[in-house]
Amino acid sequence: MTSQTLWRSFGLLQRASTRSFINTGSGRRALSSQSRIPDFAFAFDIDGVLLRSSKPIPGAAKSLALLQEQNIPFLLLTNGGGKHETERVAEISEKLQVPLAPEAIVQSHSPFAELVRGPDELSALENKCVLVVGGEGERCRKVAQQYGFKNVVTPGDIFMANPTIWPFKSFQNYYKDITKPLPNPKDPNDPSRGLKIDAIFVFNDPRDWALDAQIITDVLLSSEGVIGTISEKNGRTDLPNRGFQQDGQPHLYFSNPDLWWAAAYHLPRLGQGGFREALEGIWAAVTGGPSKGVELKKTVIGKPHQGTYEFAEIQLLRNRSRLLGSNIPPLKNVYMIGDNPESDICGANSYRSPHGSKWHSILVRTGVYNGGEPTWTPTTIADDVQKAVEWGLETSKWRG
Ligand code: G3P
Ligand code: MG
Repeated sequence: MTSQTLWRSFGLLQRASTRSFINTGSGRRALSSQSRIPDFAFAFDIDGVLLRSSKPIPGAAKSLALLQEQNIPFLLLTNGGGKHETERVAEISEKLQVPLAPEAIVQSHSPFAELVRGPDELSALENKCVLVVGGEGERCRKVAQQYGFKNVVTPGDIFMANPTIWPFKSFQNYYKDITKPLPNPKDPNDPSRGLKIDAIFVFNDPRDWALDAQIITDVLLSSEGVIGTISEKNGRTDLPNRGFQQDGQPHLYFSNPDLWWAAAYHLPRLGQGGFREALEGIWAAVTGGPSKGVELKKTVIGKPHQGTYEFAEIQLLRNRSRLLGSNIPPLKNVYMIGDNPESDICGANSYRSPHGSKWHSILVRTGVYNGGEPTWTPTTIADDVQKAVEWGLETSKWRG
């Protein structure tokens, strides 16, 4: 499946999907016929804006409570993930003391749910074997299953089925409690042999870069995604991409491009984008890479990509009409508040809404950005999320 099919499926299925938002926001002011309807909304990045390594950032709770109290729509838009949307919003609700429904958040991997059914029967992955990479323990397996994927395997499953696939035993203790037997093993002596992978999803930051990079490389070099095989087309100069990824190998999806992110340490930490760069380096070394005309064919979603912002805006529009009714003036302005110029600011600045809204980027100083000339110029810079919300309200001349 290509990126175009991927986004087509998101668009089509998102609009048709039954995900509905009921703003459970307590303290919501009842809408009277005289209430002013805001023609603007907010989109909040999470890490480095609302939370820093799960701890609330000052002003975050008050800002969300104010918007809920004044019936101003907002969406949480994060490159984070690793838990189901229901679990993540429950945690954020508890930390910020603001009631949130699962539809109030779009995580890095949220759009993957649309690929369960896909745009058509042929590309539906519901019953196909998908390799889910990353995250704590087997949380991402569970998320994928909650999305509807029925045949999920992890690199740990493959390692425990044949521990020689990665010649080091250091993490066997970690894996023994979070792995499952592989489906329909063909060879009792090596249950991994013959397993056919139909799609590879990096749902969240890998915890074991080595094993995950090995397994992904194995699958991409294989014949038709079958573990333990090697494609005879690899290296053939008469084929596109020197024959690499030209033999029915599964498509590779990354959910988050972030090279850096704001965690507990005072300096930014390498994110899922760091893992992808490491894998790109291995792929270039194995195949000859760009100097030999070989690329790593993949799809990367998440901020700053247009598709992710479009996916998010569809959710925001749905939430807005649930909150304010369907017969309301169009959404004109969205204030995107973020801490990472590469994802939040670049994304909001570059986003071209098919729905006619204009996105404005507000860069805060509480996360990845720590001063100086940002790599992407925001509409404005604010000290923190509270100041950012105040700026947005003032810019929209909202009197509340
Ligand atoms: O893994 C999370 C990190 O990449 C950034 O998350 O919320 O700042 O988009 P967020
Ligand atoms: Mg952030």
